[in-house]
Amino acid sequence: MISEKKSPKFSFEKANQIAHEVKIFAKSFIKKGMPLLEIAEKIEDKIFELGGKPAFPTNLSINEIAAHYTPSYDDKTLAEGLLKVDFGVQIDGWTSDNAFSLDLENSVENKKLIEAAEKALENATKIFNKEHSFGEVGKTIQEAISSYKFQPILNLSGHSITQYDLHSGFNVPNFNNNDNEKIKKGLFAIEPFSTNGAGKVQDGNSSGIYQFVFPKTPRSQTAREVLEYIAETFNTLPFCQRWIYKKFQARGLFALRELENNGNLHHFAQLVEVSKGKVAQAEKTIFVD
Ligand code: CO
Repeated sequence: MISEKKSPKFSFEKANQIAHEVKIFAKSFIKKGMPLLEIAEKIEDKIFELGGKPAFPTNLSINEIAAHYTPSYDDKTLAEGLLKVDFGVQIDGWTSDNAFSLDLENSVENKKLIEAAEKALENATKIFNKEHSFGEVGKTIQEAISSYKFQPILNLSGHSITQYDLHSGFNVPNFNNNDNEKIKKGLFAIEPFSTNGAGKVQDGNSSGIYQFVFPKTPRSQTAREVLEYIAETFNTLPFCQRWIYKKFQARGLFALRELENNGNLHHFAQLVEVSKGKVAQAEKTIFVD
């Protein structure tokens, strides 16, 4: 018998409440010209302050970068354009994954892209229950975004979430993929992406976001030490170079390279819209009971 206070639902609801507060906080302070590094740290500090842990590094992706941009430890990039803020809060490994987009250049096009993603999320949420299939949710998202004359990003999708696993098997598509499987009990992130481009992303530069994938002992003492820290601190959730630098400074960066070469870590790429179209995103996590 798991006690009520350790149940997945209890942990998720607490994480979700923190995420709600963090979202309000982030919207209140993010301004054009602010360093992305400062934004990411403020968001992550706030998550800790409220009693949660970041489930992954805060993604702050601008314009055609759809996802997986997190500031490096010495990042000088400033907030501008169409900014996506994607962050996660976890309690005991149970995650609430959330995102919103901001128009920082007073552009009508950006505002419409954001509205399209938000509308798609709202409509998808309404039908997200055991009566409906994943394909129907995708169809709803696609229709909402198309009604604004934009494209959903076809090769990005929402996902089921289990403990310490952000992509635990089920995809929540952003178009009608004819998946007739009905939605099940559990945690799901719904995340429509709208674009004025072609509607597809491809891998861009390295992101500095990593995930522990394989426990093979590395050669150097430092790499062993860093790997142990990663396993204890992040378990199998994503983390970033910036966090490792904070703990180990330059030797941590060398260790990351060794761990990646040794096959211990997966290194994520930034995801960039193929035709350099602008991308907006909206996301929330739902517990289906
Ligand atoms: Co997500």
